[in-house]
Amino acid sequence: MNLKNKTILLGVTGGIAAYKSASLASMLVKSGAEVRVIMTSHAVNFINPITFESLTGNKCITDTFDRNFEFKVEHVALAKKADAIIVAPATANIIAKLAHGLADDMLTTTILASAAPKLIAPAMNTGMYENPITQDNLTLLAKYGMKIIKPADGYLACGDTGTGKMPEPEVLYEHILQCCAYKKDMSGMKVMVTAGPTQEAIDPVRYITNHSSGKMGYSIARACALRGADVTLITGKTALKPPLFTTIVPVVTAKDMYEAVVSHSKDMDIIIKAAAVADYRPAKVSDEKVKKTDTELSIPLERTDDILQYLGLHKRSGQILCGFSMETENMLENSRKKLVKKNLDMIVANNLKMKGAGFETNTNIVTMITDDETIELPIMEKEDVAFHILDKLLSL
Ligand SMILES: Cc1cc2nc3c(=O)[nH]c(=O)nc-3n(C[C@H](O)[C@H](O)[C@H](O)COP(=O)(O)O)c2cc1C
Repeated sequence: MNLKNKTILLGVTGGIAAYKSASLASMLVKSGAEVRVIMTSHAVNFINPITFESLTGNKCITDTFDRNFEFKVEHVALAKKADAIIVAPATANIIAKLAHGLADDMLTTTILASAAPKLIAPAMNTGMYENPITQDNLTLLAKYGMKIIKPADGYLACGDTGTGKMPEPEVLYEHILQCCAYKKDMSGMKVMVTAGPTQEAIDPVRYITNHSSGKMGYSIARACALRGADVTLITGKTALKPPLFTTIVPVVTAKDMYEAVVSHSKDMDIIIKAAAVADYRPAKVSDEKVKKTDTELSIPLERTDDILQYLGLHKRSGQILCGFSMETENMLENSRKKLVKKNLDMIVANNLKMKGAGFETNTNIVTMITDDETIELPIMEKEDVAFHILDKLLSL
């Protein structure tokens, strides 16, 4: 319930993408928000207000002069109540009106009256979007402090392919979370997170890797970004969508990851190593092995670079270093040894033998170990584990 006790005002205008805003409204409600929807009179040609009323449990407002009102002066009351306002989709028309202070309907009037943070998600034909008039209007909105959510590229309803597609509701939802769901207690901090598996080629076809899905590291990077940190995510190949608001550094091998870590780690305030590096790589990669049968395949292996050891040795004063341990036995004892040996401030131990913990699950069961504390967390979603880990790291 990330948006519990928050009021989100969703403005819907007359574009084809209006149908996607129903999913957004639903996500916001599921996340605990009180959702108020204001539609322009043109928007009701694209989606029926009843859809939003059913999803939010609130009257959907379309008319400034509706006498069946709930508040004394409705647009002012809504303007004050909102923790955030999002206009999605935002037509070229509403963008122009907002840029110039027009207030000729309930949506524009409410937005003009509100001091809440405002997000604008333009959605239109590429020609309309790229028109210098629209671009100038968007620049004006940004100047007035509104956040413009860049439209995506793709196939548009008008048949063109180009920029102007409204981002998916999941993306808009993340923008709302970043805008108002969390306190920005990591603002000004630089955080580096490593995530995912590394791959070591045996030959041009096969490779050595591990079962890491990247979910834990990605959840941590996302949580840091939502709490205001400047996040660099160094990631091996995963099937996950990269978290928004982070700088992604893609890598493949342990050597790539080591080099990326060396070049990015120096000025970081917090480093969290959640990647599962393949411990071994073939000493020599050969084209010939491809042709051989499995029984003939015998590969001399060598250890890959110890990234955590590098980080521990080069930890500067004030920098916080957190690692993970995956143990199948003697979890606490082995993890504590690693905490000391690698010069970590905290180690997060997960026992691979427990159901609901470890590599590919959405949940995890972890124990956070510092010099003087051992804190066991119950089973929970990796997204929630991430927030607990950050709370603890910030308290060190
Ligand atoms: C079928 C159809 C689709 C439209 N799609 C869009 C659109 O995606 N984006 C846009 O800016 N305008 C679009 N328009 C034009 C707007 O509906 C029109 O500019 C209207 O005045 C917008 O009013 P509003 O901003 O008050 O909702 C579309 C019009 C029609 C008839």
